[in-house]
Amino acid sequence: MMTLEILTLILLVSLIPLLLSLWYRVGHLQQSLGETRGRLEALVQGETRGLFSQLEADRSLRDRLDLHQGLPYSRNWSASPDFLKLIVEHCLEARPARILECSSGLTTLMLARCCQLNGQGHVYSLENGAPFAAATGHHLDRYGVADRASLILAPLENQRIKEENYLWYGLNGLPVADIDMLVIDGPPGFLQRHSRYPALPLLFGRLSDACVIFLDDAARQDEKEIVMRWKQEFPAIRHEFIPTERGCSVFRLG
Ligand SMILES: C[S@@+](CC[C@H](N)C(=O)[O-])C[C@H]1O[C@@H](n2cnc3c(N)ncnc32)[C@H](O)[C@@H]1O
Repeated sequence: MMTLEILTLILLVSLIPLLLSLWYRVGHLQQSLGETRGRLEALVQGETRGLFSQLEADRSLRDRLDLHQGLPYSRNWSASPDFLKLIVEHCLEARPARILECSSGLTTLMLARCCQLNGQGHVYSLENGAPFAAATGHHLDRYGVADRASLILAPLENQRIKEENYLWYGLNGLPVADIDMLVIDGPPGFLQRHSRYPALPLLFGRLSDACVIFLDDAARQDEKEIVMRWKQEFPAIRHEFIPTERGCSVFRLG
């Protein structure tokens, strides 16, 4: 009997470290579950706030520009509503005469509508893909703003800049200089490293003294590096980063 009690006692005592370890692990698990839950809640709140402000920007753009018959919007390929809002506000306020954009789409439609509302200005849009140029042209016609934009089919060509090769829009069909507003939203970043870098070296000579440049997707590492290169190579330009969903870098020459 005595031996059984001793054995039970020994068993209980030997279980103490195991129980303590279990207690510690459960506490630890509870704490990390609490932290994960907090992080998820913050993430969901941030995403919801972001989505809400994109929807708000989208609705205010449609109302302001009276574009209510459907838009060529794609979550993956179109500029985000907050970026569109920035370029639209600038276009309506500064009333640029000549706008050049790298890549066509929703940006072309909205800027052409701004020029129509301004009663002046024209958009020149470099587009490398014929189907995308045709789709944009269709929307410009549908909204009656085709006379405010020229879609320039500009297949990507090898462009050599500072001993480096880039695929970038061929500029032979671009009839314009003295550009007052430049919007850079292409070529796509996956094509090559620093895909949008050639824009400034190749177009700088065609910009007016008062030109304002908008670079989309400026929060990406690749675009951050492009901005650093431009700032070194064109020290006179003034740079401002605007924290839109994908980041927007604005450069002013004047
Ligand atoms: C980032 S998109 C921007 C288009 C335009 N600025 C806009 O906001 O609607 C840049 C380029 O991607 C290409 N592109 C557009 N839609 C595409 C798609 N569904 N698949 C592959 N490339 C596409 C087009 O050549 C377009 O000029």
